Formats: sequence, C-alpha cells, structure tokens
Amino acid sequence: MQLIKQRIYDLLKKDNSHLLNKEINVKGWVRTRRGNKNVAFIALNDGSVIHSIQVVVDVKAFRDDELLRKITTGACISVNGKLVASEGKGQSVEIQATEIHLYGTADPEKYPLQKKGHSLEFLREIAHLRPRTNTFGAIFRIRHALSFAIHQFFNDSGFFYLHTPIITGSDAEGAGAMFRVTTLDLNDVPKNEKGEVDYSKDFFGKETNLTVSGQLEGELGALALSTIYTFGPTFRAEKSFTSRHLSEFWMVEPEMAFYDIHDNMDLAEAFLKYLVAYLLEHCADDLEFLEKMYDPGLLDRLNLVVDNQFERLTYTDAIELLENSGHQFEFPVKWGVDLQSEHERYLVEEQFKKPVILTDYPREIKAFYMKLNEDGRTVRAMDVLFPKIGEIIGGSQREEDYGKLSGRIREMGIHEEDVWWYLETRKFGTAPHSGFGLGFERLMLFVTGMGNIRDVIPFPRTPLSAEF
Ligand code: 4AD
Ligand code: MG
Repeated sequence: MQLIKQRIYDLLKKDNSHLLNKEINVKGWVRTRRGNKNVAFIALNDGSVIHSIQVVVDVKAFRDDELLRKITTGACISVNGKLVASEGKGQSVEIQATEIHLYGTADPEKYPLQKKGHSLEFLREIAHLRPRTNTFGAIFRIRHALSFAIHQFFNDSGFFYLHTPIITGSDAEGAGAMFRVTTLDLNDVPKNEKGEVDYSKDFFGKETNLTVSGQLEGELGALALSTIYTFGPTFRAEKSFTSRHLSEFWMVEPEMAFYDIHDNMDLAEAFLKYLVAYLLEHCADDLEFLEKMYDPGLLDRLNLVVDNQFERLTYTDAIELLENSGHQFEFPVKWGVDLQSEHERYLVEEQFKKPVILTDYPREIKAFYMKLNEDGRTVRAMDVLFPKIGEIIGGSQREEDYGKLSGRIREMGIHEEDVWWYLETRKFGTAPHSGFGLGFERLMLFVTGMGNIRDVIPFPRTPLSAEF
C-alpha cells in the first residue's frame, strides 16, 4: 500500500489525533540508533521540526538484520508504520515500524557527524553537512520564518517589493569597497592610449560591480510607488574578519516617500518589534533549543525588544554621555568620530538597557544623500543599536533638494555623470522621503543568540573563504 508521507512536524503536533493509530509513512535522516537484540529505537529527523520522532523496530519480527545494521547515524530511510501513543519518556508518540526502505547509508567510520557535540568552528568547515545538525536546522528554520515575516509585514503595510539590481553600474553609494564584475580576459586586459583598462570593451561597455545596497534604485521606486522595499543580497569587499561582517549579506531596505526622519524611526521600531514577536510566536521550539544550548538570556532579550520603547537621542548627546561615563574605551570618543561597536554597546547594554536610536550624525562621517540639518554640521541620519550587536539598522531622511544634493555630490568628488539618473528624481517631482537598511544577518544574530555571523547564513562568504 502506498502511504502518504507525513512531516514529522505534523506527527508531533498537539492536534495529531487524526493520525493516531493509523498507518503512515515518514522519510528522513537517522540521528541515532540504539537498542538490543529484541528492539531497536531509531531517532528520525526530517528537518521540519527540531524534534526527532522515535521509530520502534521489533527486531525479531522484522527479520532483516542486514538492513537494520546499515541504519546508522546519518543514513536516510523511509519508514512505514503505525503512529501510536508512546509509553517512553520524552515523546508523546512513536512509530511502530512495519517496513523500512534504506535510501542511503552513512559509513560510521567516515560520516563527520557520527558523534554529537562538534564545535561551531568545525561545523563551518563542513557547511555542506551542518544543516543536518539540530543547531543549524533550528537556525535555518528561523531564517526562513524571519524572511517570511518581513514580506508579511510590508505587504500588510502597503509596501511593494521592488527588485533592485545585483550588478550595478554606479559605485556612488560609498558604503564600502566593491567586487568588480567583468568578462575581460584578465591575462590580456585591453588598455586605452593612457594605459588604463578599457572598460568600453567589457561586457556592459562600462565598469560594473556587485551592489553594496539597493537604496539608490529603491529611491527611484519610492518616488513613484510611494512605499517600497528591497530584500536581497549585497556585497562588500572589505577585509573584515569580525564576527559581525560578511562579504555577502542580505539587506532589507524600505524606502518611503513623504516620510521624515521621525516617521522613519517609528517604522524601524514597529518593524523590528513585529519581527521579534513573530518569531516568539512561530519559532518557540527552535528558540527554546538555542536558549538552552547557547544563550541563557535569549528569550529575555527578545522580550526586552518587544516590550520596551526604544531610546532615541542625538549623536551629540550620546557623545556627551560617553565622554562623561567614566568608562575607559579602547577607541577614545569625541564629537566627530564614528562610533565603534564598544561605544554602541555601552549605550545599549550599560546606559539604557534597551535598544537605542541615534540621530543627527556629523555630515563628514555619513553618506552624501543624507538630508542636511539647519545647523549645517549634522545630517538626518539614524542608526538603530541593539544589545550584543551594536548597529543593526542604518538609515536617514534623504536630501530632496536638487541644489543641495548636487553640491554634496561635487564636494565628495562623486562624478555627476555616474548619478545623473539619481539627481533627475530631484529635478522632476521631488518629494521628502526616507528609508533605512536592516542587516538581515545582524538581526539573525540577535534572534538566535549565536555569536558569529558565519553561523546564521547557510554558506558564508568572508575574505579567503568561499568553499561551498
Ligand atoms: O549602514 P549601511 O552601510 O547602510 C546602507 O547601506 C544604506 N544604503 C541603507 C539604507 O538607508 N537603505 O548598512 C545597513 C546595515 C547595517 O546597519 C548593518 O546591519 C548591515 O547593513 N551591514 C552588514 N551586515 C553584515 N556584514 C556586513 N559587512 C555589513 N555591512 C553592513
Ligand atoms: Mg551604517
């Protein structure tokens, strides 16, 4: 009889009574097998949920020792059997196996996940297999739920998902060093009379790079559709080896016409609270697992974000506070410096004990497109700072005045011919507008309690590392 495959998630759900005492089929990977001459217990996991289901095999009745012997940790099997209430501890139901098909063995001598308790560093070296651990199963399910919640939030709020390009012809954003995209023969690069690389011979007839942000194109969308967001991969070619930087990371960037900096902050705060609350509701099992294994304060910290109003203060006030804190920082603070994560974390973790939004940064340390304040020294920037993470969001109200914006562009040595299209939005029907960028993996770090950003993306790209 062909049975319908059930997800282990559905078998372990509270309302599984329609499946109880029925013949069912499950397929998955063996976590462990133990037992004795008479009975074998197989813990089977299919990735649909953190918990494995117990498969009970009556060894004598089964009469296939050869097959049973091959069912070791990591093997892939299909099981037919009856779902019954369990008398054992630790599970409410189990499967009494009647038939087992072995799809693939995993030689116990060679399978790297044969034993439990590997370090996260070791698991990074086997990124092709680490999704099969409980830890990475939990992380990638949360990553999915978080992505879904992002779309849900914006869709419900009347935002349109705009796909901004990955390959870009402009490097005006200035957010970081870029990866070049080229099909030129690197062994025989065409040169012009001045001896420079002749990009007119390249695939696009000009210099192109991987995008560092979808913002500039996002603004074009917002100045037509009013409220949009992008959510896609972005690339930064900095040689940063920190636990908070990736060379390829995902960024969520909403951009809103008719929003000022205060509307922008309100949106960022509501957005983050929605996402964390969504996970608390939909990923409780995985969060509990991560709290137990890695971070005893995780759930408290998540609730702190949902329950508290974020503290809002200006960069200038924050500098004064840091200067008067009596705390010894590795990087000294004074007005005009870019804040380091030690400063950000002091404000969040020591001073306010909740998320903080800093605004009105010195113009010199922020991007050309941010709206200049009346004081002429600061811009309408906002950074959202989180416990354990530091900066999780960077955003601003944008300069909508054509004259001021083109002045800033000249000042910063950006070639107008590279951004003529961006400037035209200020020439034709310009509007006040704002937006921000949320580092998706920074939020993943926060919600999973993991300490290293390489452990919250399936296949991390960092300097000197792109194996999988
Ligand atoms: O502050 P950033 O550089 O802002 C922008 O790119 C703007 N264009 C966003 C906008 O206004 N639309 O980057 C935004 C966020 C940071 O706050 C941080 O969370 C994350 O992106 N981020 C990184 N995450 C992982 N690895 C990196 N190398 C990151 N660089 C920035
Ligand atoms: Mg930033």
